[in-house]
Amino acid sequence: MTRISVLDALTANSIAAGEVVERPASVVKELVENALDAGSSVILVEIRQGGIAYLRVSDNGCGMDEEDAQLSFSRHATSKIRTIDDLEALRTMGFRGEALASIAAVAKVRLETRLLGTDIGTLIDIAAGEFQSIRPVGCPEGTSITIENLFFNTPARFKFLKKDSTEAAAVADVLERIALARPDVSFRLISQGAELLHTPGNNDLKSAIFAVFGKQAAQESLYIDYEQSPVKLTGFVGTPESARNSRSQQCFYINGRLVRSKAISAAIDEAYATHLMKRKFPLAVLLIDVPTPLVDVNVHPQKMEVRFWDEQAIFRSVYHAIKNAIQEQTTVVESDHLKTVEQPLVNPYIQSELPFNAPQVRESMQVENQLSSSNQTTEPEPSNQPAFSSLPIQSVESNLPVQSTKKTINSLRSARIIGQLLSTYLILEHEKDLLLVDQHAAHERILFEQLVGRHRARGPAAIQPLLVPQTMTVTASEQAVLMAEQDRLMAIGFEYEAFGPQTILIRSIPDGGRYQLVPQAAFRIALDSLLNDKITSEEQISDVYYSMSCKAAIKAHDLLHQDEMNRLINDLLELEDPYHCPHGRPVIIRISQYEIEKQFKRIV
Ligand SMILES: Nc1ncnc2c1ncn2[C@@H]1O[C@H](COP(=O)(O)OP(=O)(O)OP(=O)(O)O)[C@@H](O)[C@H]1O
Ligand SMILES: [Mg+2]
Repeated sequence: MTRISVLDALTANSIAAGEVVERPASVVKELVENALDAGSSVILVEIRQGGIAYLRVSDNGCGMDEEDAQLSFSRHATSKIRTIDDLEALRTMGFRGEALASIAAVAKVRLETRLLGTDIGTLIDIAAGEFQSIRPVGCPEGTSITIENLFFNTPARFKFLKKDSTEAAAVADVLERIALARPDVSFRLISQGAELLHTPGNNDLKSAIFAVFGKQAAQESLYIDYEQSPVKLTGFVGTPESARNSRSQQCFYINGRLVRSKAISAAIDEAYATHLMKRKFPLAVLLIDVPTPLVDVNVHPQKMEVRFWDEQAIFRSVYHAIKNAIQEQTTVVESDHLKTVEQPLVNPYIQSELPFNAPQVRESMQVENQLSSSNQTTEPEPSNQPAFSSLPIQSVESNLPVQSTKKTINSLRSARIIGQLLSTYLILEHEKDLLLVDQHAAHERILFEQLVGRHRARGPAAIQPLLVPQTMTVTASEQAVLMAEQDRLMAIGFEYEAFGPQTILIRSIPDGGRYQLVPQAAFRIALDSLLNDKITSEEQISDVYYSMSCKAAIKAHDLLHQDEMNRLINDLLELEDPYHCPHGRPVIIRISQYEIEKQFKRIV
């Protein structure tokens, strides 16, 4: 007797369904993608009890005739490809011909569909893969599919479903993510009779972001438009201020297909590294286009991952696109209740002679620049590892976007310092605005950039010899570690030697530029990090410098003289990003003339 037998169709389909259909959200994803492939402009999703009891997706797409309607439930029946070669040029979401067969194997399904331009529709009832009835019906053009009692015949699957509210949230999440990729389509989600999502479908991504993430996120996002052949990228990224503790506001699409990608996540983190605290995640909606032959879509059962021909190229494009957008945006944070016009403090496009808003032009100029002086340092390519390249040393000559930012920042030099408020904020008048600068955050930022910048440059620049070496008391065990690990502290700028029992003589410290660190305080921070073994990766070293900057920076409530204020402002304006402290908090806020006059009721 043979031990091997071929599974019957229902069993085989149910097993396959386990891969495709995990929960109501995966059903919604499949049905909505079908609706999009059918050319719909309006898609309605209705659910009850998280979609477990009831789930319906209706569209105004092309619809099907009776024959196709029946065929649509057969495994490997698809209108989207004919042979495997078609996958290379795939522009549709579907291609396997599996989704409807899988769903119908594990639920009760009703399909109502009318082919565009025909008079009568088709209704099909199918449960657990068995056709129950097929008949003509009067229905609108397009398709609607109703799913009831998901997993009613597969109790093992049913058990894995979560609470209704959790499943509903997962449905909303998947629909939001799809909606962001297709601002040209209007999506609506109704759960238990209440509308949870409604996008306008006006082909404006910002409106879709508004509908999904809210008004503030939409207003504060920066537009991205970048091209580095063969990768094209458009979308929006959020400001550091509106970053979240999770990646819930990050969605990436390759050729319109929602994907998960570690490379893209890493590129975003890296681009924001100097602007954000760790484990803070900015909004990012990135629509990436690459020629279809360079992407393999057939690698994941739910089509949630794709394989790129060159991950690094995608990584670099995302990194540079975002980095450019952040650098070109010179808006300071405005006080929020009167944020009327979104307007950069200084308009970079007026200030510079170059058309900076045209990335292609910028790219080609960059190339020319490099050709004309081939020995110039260029910005190092970021590694795929979140690392120290968070503060790339940029040669102004070879990096035009930075130059433009510098110029615009330089124009702030004309700002007049009025004085100090609460011994904590510097008050400046700039053009028609009032600026408030947080002195501690400003100083911290300056020091941090000095330390990290010089460290990255390596060599003697990173080390500041002390004219008078300083002694410091340590414990015996600390001294033992210090003597054994001299190289590691040397690498971040400390030279020292034993100076009797429990005493160290500090000869040099990390170079803070015009501001000198307090040797003992800085050394203590480095020593503690060394003892905790937190001074190895470049990221950890950056943290050490950050702690030193925070410790050494002037504090709130320190009274400053006029020349100290001048120096602070001048140094602040030298920075690549003077607007945020290393925590991502704002350094400068602006109150516009309009806001002031409104408060005084000079204007209404
Ligand atoms: N809403 C719809 N409007 C019009 N035709 C549809 C709709 N949904 C499904 N179809 C048709 O039914 C076929 C089968 O759909 P199904 O989702 O099972 O497979 P697919 O979309 O081709 O591939 P995949 O399994 O990757 O989703 C589709 O190829 C399409 O021709
Ligand atoms: Mg499909």
